[in-house]
Amino acid sequence: MVLNIAVLAGDGIGPEVTNEAVKVLKAVASRYGHGFTFTPALLGACAIDKYNMALPQDTLEICQEADAVLLGAVGHPKYDNNPDAPVRPEQGLLAIRKALQLFANIRPITIYDKLIPQSPLKADRIAGVDIAIYRELTGGIYFGEKFLSVDKTVATDVCSYSVKEIEQITHMAFKAAQNRRKKVTLVDKANVLETSRLWRRVVSQIAAEYSDVVLDFLFVDNAAMQLILNPKQFDVMLTENMFGDILSDEASVIGGSIGLAASASVGDKYSLFEPIHGSYPAATGKGIANPVASILSAALLLEHFDLYEEAEAIKNAVAVSINLNYCTPDIFADSTYSTDDVGNFIESMVLGNEIFNNHANVSIGKSTII
Ligand code: IPM
Ligand code: MG
Repeated sequence: MVLNIAVLAGDGIGPEVTNEAVKVLKAVASRYGHGFTFTPALLGACAIDKYNMALPQDTLEICQEADAVLLGAVGHPKYDNNPDAPVRPEQGLLAIRKALQLFANIRPITIYDKLIPQSPLKADRIAGVDIAIYRELTGGIYFGEKFLSVDKTVATDVCSYSVKEIEQITHMAFKAAQNRRKKVTLVDKANVLETSRLWRRVVSQIAAEYSDVVLDFLFVDNAAMQLILNPKQFDVMLTENMFGDILSDEASVIGGSIGLAASASVGDKYSLFEPIHGSYPAATGKGIANPVASILSAALLLEHFDLYEEAEAIKNAVAVSINLNYCTPDIFADSTYSTDDVGNFIESMVLGNEIFNNHANVSIGKSTII
């Protein structure tokens, strides 16, 4: 298959982790005979530094012409503590999601057995967790009208949803549930918010078309608690933009590290794949960032194009690396493996290199790998 992939590595650790994902995709192309090309473009703080715009027009066009987008992370501390910054890196991320109409952000949460002891949660609560979070991505409070009074003493962010916006992701979530454990949990705050009551109405109507899927409802505050108390109760979690943002960071703790959590953002025409983590400025350039979330995002990209065997090869390589403790320090605090050590290992596994068939060597120490 020929795929032209736009690469928006972004800021902070974004370029480091994306580099590893590209490396692994190149390994897939070489092993399975595909023609993947990669077109880099700027987004976020790096684009502001150069063009004074978080999403330059060139970048948008490169993404629109590509078959898919691979994104790293955006954000830089020089903007975080400056409420008066006229343009912010995150605006680029929101703008690209909106421009490509990526209305559904899918965030799978699973746990590798090997990492169960690494989670702060108790083993019996998290073993076997398998959740797909369907987060609405182009509406809600992120995109509603914003207002700051002239004297800067009052601020407003409007949360708005239309029936159509709710419908499109809801169908996607129910279809996903049909191929999973056939349960959708709608997370909202319908006891307080009008938008949530609209979500309940629309989602309940659509549920009638999927009689094999059970629908239940949870208020978001309770959902946040249930994710920790009993995460196994969840199959597909369907929710609006901001609740999904918050709950997915929380849910990533189940898997042992946010550095493992990948995501796919899809619309009717375009698709974008990115780790759920941010730009982690403090780790920039230190080689400690976990590339697995980015590499697994690349696997989601392959699945999107029905390249299941190739995606499986990546996922297997990641599982082997974890089983052999071949991980960055966010997973095993005393680990000395760097971002590119882990990427190189996974790349070599995907290429089917002989050295990795002898897993015993790998666990002895990194000198046997390189
Ligand atoms: C995410 C991030 C973004 C979001 C930020 C960087 C704007 O937290 O993708 O989860 O809130 O959507
Ligand atoms: Mg987030």
